[in-house]
Amino acid sequence: MTDSKNNGERDREVVSNSVQTPVQTPVAEPRTGRVDTPIEGASGQEEDVTFAQRLRAETAQAHRFAESTNFVKGILKGVMDLASFGNMQAGMYLVYCALEEELDRHQDHPMVGPVYFPVLSRKAALEADLEYLYGADWRSQVRSTPARSEYVDRIHWLGANDPTLLVAHSYTRYLGDLSGGQVISKIARRSLGLEGSNGLTFFDFDEIDNSREFKNEYRSRLSQLPLSEERAQEVIEEAKQAFTFNQSLFEELEGSWIRTLANFLPLVSNRRKRA
Ligand code: HEM
Repeated sequence: MTDSKNNGERDREVVSNSVQTPVQTPVAEPRTGRVDTPIEGASGQEEDVTFAQRLRAETAQAHRFAESTNFVKGILKGVMDLASFGNMQAGMYLVYCALEEELDRHQDHPMVGPVYFPVLSRKAALEADLEYLYGADWRSQVRSTPARSEYVDRIHWLGANDPTLLVAHSYTRYLGDLSGGQVISKIARRSLGLEGSNGLTFFDFDEIDNSREFKNEYRSRLSQLPLSEERAQEVIEEAKQAFTFNQSLFEELEGSWIRTLANFLPLVSNRRKRA
């Protein structure tokens, strides 16, 4: 056990050395109001601060970095093409296969169980979307990349060695999907000309009637986890790392997205010349 913990620490070092991007890019002011919006039911008294509030506050900066990548800014401005969107969802598919495999496996774990909600599962939705976006042979289009495999490997490593920390990954992805994901979905529908839920099932939590209430329930379950102070801090650190993994996915996508845009540029300038 001690060995695996040491391996874990080494593993974490490798992950953070290679994935964490030095904070050089000027970071835009948060557009989402996420940091300032109080969580319902919170009194604001320091002694009453729940674990969910701490998690939100301590990952606020990592959230800002992830949502300030050029790829995400492009999505928010509606500058997105179907190929890049499909590529983003192909990466998500690999991440959710890993996450849901490990969460399913540990659904009776005392820390994972309370935040295990099958209604959140996204794998089947992503399969439907990828089939719509890529056609019947979509599986051949889903490729691993360095950022994807680092994220996936970390999730599997935790599944094998430290399932408690899977909670951080569940929180980062699912609460994000229920929040910013909804913004992305609306903009993508418009800018990509998608109709109904075609290609967008991933964002559609049709078994959740009231996402605000659901998120509050999820946060309340998080806050009731019997975590020691040390473990609570480790979950927070893992959640920051989960945001960084997501940031890396976006940064990696940025390269292919810019190439796609560059292909369009000659068309645009030729059109302008002709006009
Ligand atoms: C398109 C960019 C994004 C936008 C517009 C956005 C927007 C938001 C908003 C408005 C909230 C607050 C929701 C609420 O309090 O109910 C939120 C929360 C959250 N977002 Fe994002 N987000 C974005 C990107 C991301 C990314 C890339 C991730 C990580 C994968 C993420 C993870 C989260 C999480 C975990 C929360 C829950 C915070 C909490 O209440 O504890 N978001 N986001």
